[in-house]
Amino acid sequence: MTDSVSPALVARAATLREELEAASHAYYVLDAPTRSDAEYDRLFRELQQLEAEHPTLRTADSPTQRVGAPPQSQFAKHTHRVPMLSLGNAFDDDELRAWEERILRVIGEDVHASGYVAELKIDGAAISLTYRDGVLETGATRGNGLIGEDVTPNLRTLRDIPLRVRGDDVPPLMEVRGEVYYPFSAFERMNEERVRRGEPVFANPRNAAAGSLRQLDPGITATRPLRFFCYAATTPDRPLGLTTQWEVLEALERWGFSVAPARRRCATIDEVAAWAYEVEHTLRAELDFAIDGGVVKVDRLRLQEELGVVGGREPRWAIARKFAPDVLETRLLDIQVNVGRTGSLNPFAMLEPVEIGGATVKLATLHNFDLIATKDLRVGDVVQVKRAGDVIPQVIGPVPERRTGDERAVSAPDVCPSCGTTVRRDEDAIAIYCPNVACPGRRLEALAHFVSGDAMDIRGLSYARLAQFVEAGLVSDAADIFSLTTDQLTSLERFAEKSAQNLVDAIAAARTQPLSRVLNALGIRHVGAIAAQLLARHFGTMPRLVEAAIQGPEEIAAIRGIGPVIAESVVEFFQGESARALIDRLAARGLTMEEPKPASQGGTLAGLAIVLTGSLPTLSRGEATERIEAAGGRVTSSVSKNTAFVVAGEAPGSKIERARTLGVAVIDEAELLMRLDGAAGAAGAAGAEPSVAATPAE
Ligand code: IVH
Repeated sequence: MTDSVSPALVARAATLREELEAASHAYYVLDAPTRSDAEYDRLFRELQQLEAEHPTLRTADSPTQRVGAPPQSQFAKHTHRVPMLSLGNAFDDDELRAWEERILRVIGEDVHASGYVAELKIDGAAISLTYRDGVLETGATRGNGLIGEDVTPNLRTLRDIPLRVRGDDVPPLMEVRGEVYYPFSAFERMNEERVRRGEPVFANPRNAAAGSLRQLDPGITATRPLRFFCYAATTPDRPLGLTTQWEVLEALERWGFSVAPARRRCATIDEVAAWAYEVEHTLRAELDFAIDGGVVKVDRLRLQEELGVVGGREPRWAIARKFAPDVLETRLLDIQVNVGRTGSLNPFAMLEPVEIGGATVKLATLHNFDLIATKDLRVGDVVQVKRAGDVIPQVIGPVPERRTGDERAVSAPDVCPSCGTTVRRDEDAIAIYCPNVACPGRRLEALAHFVSGDAMDIRGLSYARLAQFVEAGLVSDAADIFSLTTDQLTSLERFAEKSAQNLVDAIAAARTQPLSRVLNALGIRHVGAIAAQLLARHFGTMPRLVEAAIQGPEEIAAIRGIGPVIAESVVEFFQGESARALIDRLAARGLTMEEPKPASQGGTLAGLAIVLTGSLPTLSRGEATERIEAAGGRVTSSVSKNTAFVVAGEAPGSKIERARTLGVAVIDEAELLMRLDGAAGAAGAAGAEPSVAATPAE
């Protein structure tokens, strides 16, 4: 049948496919995004619509085909064209050298001319991808190494698995092997979410990766942020045309795949051993994914072939250099509770000290009491403990087989362990917290937040100094900070005249910090820098906000950007006696707690609608918005004929096109800064004209 789709549409669909895949590659593989999510979505929807209108435009490698495949009732078997082997293990350097000895006996000194490639051994789920003429045809699990399960629709949802490989040197039939993994950070988030929904948690990222791949509904896999690293390419029907493993990894990267970091070409086995030491003791803690060792491979492919396979299962030319496990068992001695700065009560585990990955672990976070119940953790249990990345150690769960019957279940406390106030449950019903603003348990954390850079920004007031003041009885709440004198400070240890004076000056300067900073500093639950700014802009002064809060949540909840949860929290805070007493004391010590009016009438950008696109070289989007608003302008999301100008940064996208079509001016960050500086100079001068070429004000 002839196709009635015009060549222009065919070309447009091809461009969209390419641009979307390039954006995915930049984001997922290169970790250097080139487009905003919104732009990506727009292009994606355009392609989806084109394909819906003209189904012949839908190709197997279209990014739209990553999602939306129907659920299956079971997986088809997939026979690997080339078997997926497993690896022998070397648990220490001696075993690594013994492996080299065995190689030397087969191929002799040739191995020295070849050298080795050392790679991370990713602890995920092994898969094989078949590419025919550069297009992903099937993707399968390892299974028993000979036959796996065809999970193609699921693998298509992984954005770092290319649907089409790039380059003109790609073999016509190729299998790419690698490991699908679940990043630690996403894993933690998912488990927290599962607890919230009352679902069972995954024991570790490897189970989560394998489980996510074996979903019959690809729609579920698509919601899991699985990633992929590859380590091999094979051609079943002819030589690969490359000579070393190192070249294979380079080719894979060139073709658009992700290869794990930290690989090294090593001339000698000593170098391999040094690499393994470095990975195990330094690098491993920094990775956002699990590894269980390194894989060492003879570099030259011809030698690999000569060395062959032992017993049909393990290659002689590669070995896994295993690391000590980062999951160990120890005893849970007690569950204690720590009070956070906003009053949240956080349970943590006291453990029988155990060495994991070179560090002694005595404490581990338990997140919240629901998680303790879901995992059925009991004091006295033998538990599995993991130290993953540089995150705080985690208790994975109990080992129920080791129970003696003497273990003791613990439940969430009804009162704050620090001040005895009855605890409350958060809106999400997960966290419990102490509502007492003056709770001594949260004092130091709260004070540290109060003076921090995002809050009152009192330079030179470190955590250690605060602890010193609290200890000496000089400070018990935030207001006390403002009555500190140089005499008091110099009477303390480690305080010289000069640093005491500097600190007193810094504290004095903080008295006029804007209301938004004070609100952020107070540590009201759910009120961060942004909510604080919205509140401060709306009310202008502290007494006005307090007055409104006493009336109830209505006025607060009506502010754009403030939801009911924040509003309730603000009301609860200011309706508390202790909070109001603190505010009074702050006012008595000279804090102004006022928000300077944005120059909304007089600013140089007064009344102008401005669109931001792309990433600006120095200002974040938030900062640019803040400064534009301070100069009286408004930031809007789409370009229209009412747009005053578009500020374009790196990778600006389609807004520029639209601006050009409508004849709207496009400027860069440097010019925006000039206009802003001009605005600062002219702030307050009613009716100032936007000055295009204003020189920066002094
Ligand atoms: S090479 C013939 N390289 O480890 C060599 N395997 O026991 C076979 N794995 O589940 C594999 N990272 O998926 C190789 N850089 C790496 C690897 C790696 C992880 C997994 C592999 C398989 C197991 C092999």
